[in-house]
Amino acid sequence: MMSLPAGGAGAYLMASWKSHAPFHWLYIITYVQLVGTHITLLDCTMTSIIVEPLRFPEGSGINFGAAVSNVDIENLTDDDFAVIRDALFTHQILVFKNQGHVSPKAQFKLTQRFDPAGGSSYGHGKTIDAKRSILHPDLKTIPHQPQVQVIGNGRVASYEGLTDFQLRHPHHKTFHATSIPEPEDLDFTRFYRWHIDAALYGELAPPVVTTLLAVKVPGGRRQICRYDDETGDVLDVPLGTTAFVSGYTMYNSLSEEDKKFARETKVEYAPHPYVWMSSAKSRSDGLGLLSQGLEVPIEELPPHTREETQILPLCWRNPVTGKLALQVHPSAVRKLHLADGTAIDDLAEVRNIVHRLQRPGISPKYVYPHDWEQGDLVLFHNRGLLHSVVGAFAEDEVRLFRQCNIAASQFPEGPLPTATVTA
Ligand SMILES: [Fe+2]
Repeated sequence: MMSLPAGGAGAYLMASWKSHAPFHWLYIITYVQLVGTHITLLDCTMTSIIVEPLRFPEGSGINFGAAVSNVDIENLTDDDFAVIRDALFTHQILVFKNQGHVSPKAQFKLTQRFDPAGGSSYGHGKTIDAKRSILHPDLKTIPHQPQVQVIGNGRVASYEGLTDFQLRHPHHKTFHATSIPEPEDLDFTRFYRWHIDAALYGELAPPVVTTLLAVKVPGGRRQICRYDDETGDVLDVPLGTTAFVSGYTMYNSLSEEDKKFARETKVEYAPHPYVWMSSAKSRSDGLGLLSQGLEVPIEELPPHTREETQILPLCWRNPVTGKLALQVHPSAVRKLHLADGTAIDDLAEVRNIVHRLQRPGISPKYVYPHDWEQGDLVLFHNRGLLHSVVGAFAEDEVRLFRQCNIAASQFPEGPLPTATVTA
């Protein structure tokens, strides 16, 4: 196995290669070493990982995602990981096909490798144990690998040390203020809740990446995802898709005035946000809550302190490209802190501002609804994308996924001073 040099003469770059297939770019990524002005292949026998950008129909606004192949997740070398890391921060979501054999341990190790200093705490830590947290019913922890959670739908006899357990795919009717009528429920659906995987309270920093492995996927049907707002927007989606949108597109869609506002403003999240929001109801597009005064009163939340409240930038900077993503968990926002030192603390106003900034970024042409196949391992950049559960399963449609993310060692970086901001 070859390891990466620390720097100096051992600088690395990626070489790309164009295949002869029409309309089809393959990026065969190989590491080469710069020695003086010459480029030399270091080791022709090392694994060459193939990173192939996802292709979308004409008119699509999706500008992220890549398929990755020719890689052994169970035995990942440092060189392999360097390629995957660079691809992840470039493409934001990587799809590895036929990975059903990958162990929970290897899934955890791949996830942890993005932030080894982050330790080994699941992204939500123990906050999901709070009885009222809306996350609690949706997760089952693998006993021998507690950073890996089992999610899905239906009754499962046994899996990885868990026996005879019930999985419940979140349904929008349990979270939205309105819902699709029962007779239409198998044909039509909604985005359940657009979010970032993050505790957003205490010392748990938002995970850098999340991995999702599709162990069992019920086949076939498609549904129409309705926004059910004044736009009439709809999106044709595969059953039980996970929908992704780009925080970079969300930022780039803003006017110059709004970009400036987004760069300069910080978001204060509610303490214990998943308990706080547990009695409130969502907008029909899943992008934040309605303001009906239904949140759990602050004084009735579990013990909390001002110091443990998280105040994060609206825009998070990509560590490789320097680009800015508009990254806000819309259901957990409570206040906005402005550049002039004042704060907006009227909850309805805060939510309206955040929704106005984010809504263009979830327009149908920007949404990537991943069409899950058994064995798909999806690795996504949790600090550059928002995602949402979608769909409604029938009682007997069994689906089993493994999810892993790790609370990060550092909080996300905000924008650089204006003069050096990358557009
Ligand atoms: Fe999630």
